[in-house]
Amino acid sequence: MKSDSSFDAWMAREQQAVESALSDWVPADTPAGLGEAMRYGVLDGGKRLRPLLVLAACEATRGSNAAAMRAAVAVELIHAYSLVHDDMPCMDNDVLRRGKPTVHVQYGQAQAMLAGDAMQALAFEVLTPDDDAQLAPALQARLCALLARSAGHDGMAGGQAIDLASIGVALDEMALRDMHRRKTGALLQASVLMGAACGDADARAWKALADYGAAIGLAFQVVDDILDVTQCSQTLGKTAGKDEHHDKPTYVSLMGLDAARRHSFELRDEAHAALARSGLTDAARLSLLADRIVDREH
Ligand code: IPE
Ligand code: IPE
Ligand code: MG
Ligand code: MG
Ligand code: MG
Repeated sequence: MKSDSSFDAWMAREQQAVESALSDWVPADTPAGLGEAMRYGVLDGGKRLRPLLVLAACEATRGSNAAAMRAAVAVELIHAYSLVHDDMPCMDNDVLRRGKPTVHVQYGQAQAMLAGDAMQALAFEVLTPDDDAQLAPALQARLCALLARSAGHDGMAGGQAIDLASIGVALDEMALRDMHRRKTGALLQASVLMGAACGDADARAWKALADYGAAIGLAFQVVDDILDVTQCSQTLGKTAGKDEHHDKPTYVSLMGLDAARRHSFELRDEAHAALARSGLTDAARLSLLADRIVDREH
């Protein structure tokens, strides 16, 4: 992995800020231990890539950091909820996540389901403060719309439904791309656009950022498919080799490892090209995040 010390320092600083904001938002004191299960699923783990995309896109469009931090927390809550449910026995049936036993292993299936439900609701609570001074009503509505559309039937949840319906099915490239764009790409693209919504993006920049988000969103899941076969469980913090074991169609099963890797590089180049036509002058961190998404070990 390429090293860039000032970028690494920025990532570490923002990851810490996101961790602290999540810890402030996710309550410990809730009925029947629900908050404990939520905090277990959200805190202390994860690359926080989606929050980093929000913050970098906000910076690129010179937006308000306070608004972007709310958006970053909200998108990470939706992501964490998707992982809790993704791991449940009725879905991928995984026992390891972020280097720890999965939420349902630790707290039981009903509590895991409810923890995910509550994280989803909390995401929208974070985006809708009563005090308008903290987030203008029009921006609250815009952020909620972007997040809801990327998480629902047309985005993550829809993609997850296709994923489960595709076990043992050989999807062609178009169908696989559609599944990956929904289940993973949509939320990553929404992270970029939520950051840009906190700032000032003209139509050209907005379209370019949408294209950037689509390219890195798909690249992210192509690389996830690759890492599932090339890395060990310890490095991943989740069970390796699950896709083949469950007979899931992936970019590796469709085109083989080398072509999947080449495709991830093409998508990275597409992301860079989108930034180049954005007209934005502060997009260096978005560019480096695209590199990290493709060049990562977990
Ligand atoms: C894993 O996402 C699930 C996918 C959408 C592929 P991440 O790889 O971002 O997981 P964390 O947040 O770092 O644990
Ligand atoms: C998950 O895809 C996508 C989600 C919406 C959570 P995977 O099932 O491949 O994610 P991992 O490999 O379990 O993290
Ligand atoms: Mg899955
Ligand atoms: Mg899974
Ligand atoms: Mg995977």
